[in-house]
Amino acid sequence: MAKGAYTINSMEEAIGQYEGVDSWKTIILLYNSALKEIGTKLEILNEEFQHVHQYNPIEHIKSRIKTAESIVKKLKSRGHESTIENMVKYVNDIAGVRVICSFSSDIYRIAGMLASQTDIKVLSIKDYIKSPKESGYKSYHMIITVPIFLSDSVVATKVEIQIRTVAMDFWASLEHKINYKFEGEAPEHIKRELFECAEMVSDLDARMMSLNEEIKEYAEPEEQ
Ligand code: GTP
Ligand code: MG
Repeated sequence: MAKGAYTINSMEEAIGQYEGVDSWKTIILLYNSALKEIGTKLEILNEEFQHVHQYNPIEHIKSRIKTAESIVKKLKSRGHESTIENMVKYVNDIAGVRVICSFSSDIYRIAGMLASQTDIKVLSIKDYIKSPKESGYKSYHMIITVPIFLSDSVVATKVEIQIRTVAMDFWASLEHKINYKFEGEAPEHIKRELFECAEMVSDLDARMMSLNEEIKEYAEPEEQ
């Protein structure tokens, strides 16, 4: 095959290729590699932005591999048997990256830049910023695949990317903690309070963004 053109295998095909090799280890190797690839792509975009516009759209990046225990729990809750094939097919967030931005405008900028990279395939998008969840949860979610180059194959590997502002992240962390504590059945007044906080988060994000826009119009002070 000509250099440049390559066949992209699915994860299911990749597992089948290695006879006698632990398929759990194969998928974890792939998901870990996908986290590295996406992490590097994001770092490059952030550095380029710093280079051109003298500011970083990304505050920080967190990534994680879902534990075997929670993968099994998710499959069970959806009525699937715990097989490697089902994990790969039904669990979209085994590899997860959370990108925390300063301003809401950065979220769409980052998402757009990633989505337009030719090796990235966007499988689905959930925009909980335009349409927040009933709880008040806001974040931009993408399920993508990134090709992982192995010794004699290329494997499209799924990653869940969540992009949100610092304020949205602050809210989501507390809401997660509360829901965990009450096993999803938090008292009404707490839910209401959380919802009001979510509205304050949106208001804060909008005001911080317009402040930032406004100060851009002022010239930088001359260096002494
Ligand atoms: P899971 O929730 O992961 O089973 O997947 P899903 O198919 O419902 O996808 P969705 O995009 O709605 O959620 C994916 C992830 O977003 C979750 O695993 C959480 O990390 C996060 N998330 C979604 N909804 C909420 C929410 O109401 N509160 C918080 N704190 N996080 C949420
Ligand atoms: Mg999840």
